[in-house]
Amino acid sequence: MSSRTSDVLVVGGGIIGLVTAWRAAQRGFAAAVVDPAPGGGAAQVAAGMLAAVTELHFGEQTLLGLNLESARRYPRFAAELTELTGQDLGYRRCGTLAVALDADDRAHLRELHTLQRQSGLESEWLSGRDCRRLEPLLAPGVRGGLRVDADHQIDPRRLAAALVTACERAGVAFHRAWAERLVVARDRAAGVVTADGTELAAGQVVLAGGSLSGRLAGVPADVVPPVRPVKGQVVRLTVPPRYAPFLSRTVRAVVRGSAVYLVPRENGELVLGATSEELGFDTTVTAGGVYELLRDAHELVPGITELPLAETRAGLRPGSPDNAPLLGPTALPGLLLATGHHRNGVLLTPVTGDALAHALTTGELPPEARPFTPARFSRAAAADAPRRSGQPA
Ligand code: GLY
Repeated sequence: MSSRTSDVLVVGGGIIGLVTAWRAAQRGFAAAVVDPAPGGGAAQVAAGMLAAVTELHFGEQTLLGLNLESARRYPRFAAELTELTGQDLGYRRCGTLAVALDADDRAHLRELHTLQRQSGLESEWLSGRDCRRLEPLLAPGVRGGLRVDADHQIDPRRLAAALVTACERAGVAFHRAWAERLVVARDRAAGVVTADGTELAAGQVVLAGGSLSGRLAGVPADVVPPVRPVKGQVVRLTVPPRYAPFLSRTVRAVVRGSAVYLVPRENGELVLGATSEELGFDTTVTAGGVYELLRDAHELVPGITELPLAETRAGLRPGSPDNAPLLGPTALPGLLLATGHHRNGVLLTPVTGDALAHALTTGELPPEARPFTPARFSRAAAADAPRRSGQPA
């Protein structure tokens, strides 16, 4: 069993693991990533909406603060990555239009608008006619919508590729293997053992394994992150130059209770997403999933049926019990988490990198990330325990 040493070892080379390793290396740590295919993961499927305002949900006000903070950091983050790597990230400040097709959808959108305004967010109610003035290919049946100029997009595949390059330039070591087991020595995380038996020793370990984060053996039971896979199927179409510009901004809606969005890229890709399915680690693309996406997207923008179909794919969001990420130190010294980003991994990439770099350096989360400590779940479990066992609290 050979042993290679780093200051910070990141388990998982998706965008969250990569940004953590990159930021750690920039702070002077000898950083490494263990992953069989760095740059892969959910970012290969995600549409890349930076949708703090249009993806606001009731009960997620605390998460909104982190989402907005990360959105605020995006322009500088994207510029820094592009300058360092010479790679275009497809960062497009195009805004979003959320529309309604029937009375129920419109009532839903009105509720969202109220919540947005109560939260101090900018969002403008438009008539159906005004929606079509902005996006002429919208269906005649669109009954109204919300114009949100602050919700943008980035191409997650390009983001992942640029982060790999940035890590390489910053001297991050890549171990192309599966991390199988956490090594704990003298009551602290001390590295991992990979599937081929290699031991990778480290001063600190960051578990950033996306939906697989709960599966690393050797993690003490009370520290295992409560993360589960939430399947999302996505369809990619191509807009031939003769149809461009097909849509000028992201268009989304809730159709019969299911969210659907169309994200137009400058390179002609049009991403349709996404299902949300609790099926464990299943990434099968199903006829039903693709049918529903195409059916709902077609109701919004009938012209999509003319476009070439480029790809269908399914990915796994790392869902957490409160839909918010788990960031920073755990109860096991030397082990930190950067996982559970659920629907917001691409949006939260900049703030996660900064928060983890801060935590690795100081042992504490910065103020904006403190509500997302993994300890909130152990505290909740401890508070629930007497009630569950029927004893007085
Ligand atoms: N944020 C988009 C999705 O999770 O489908």
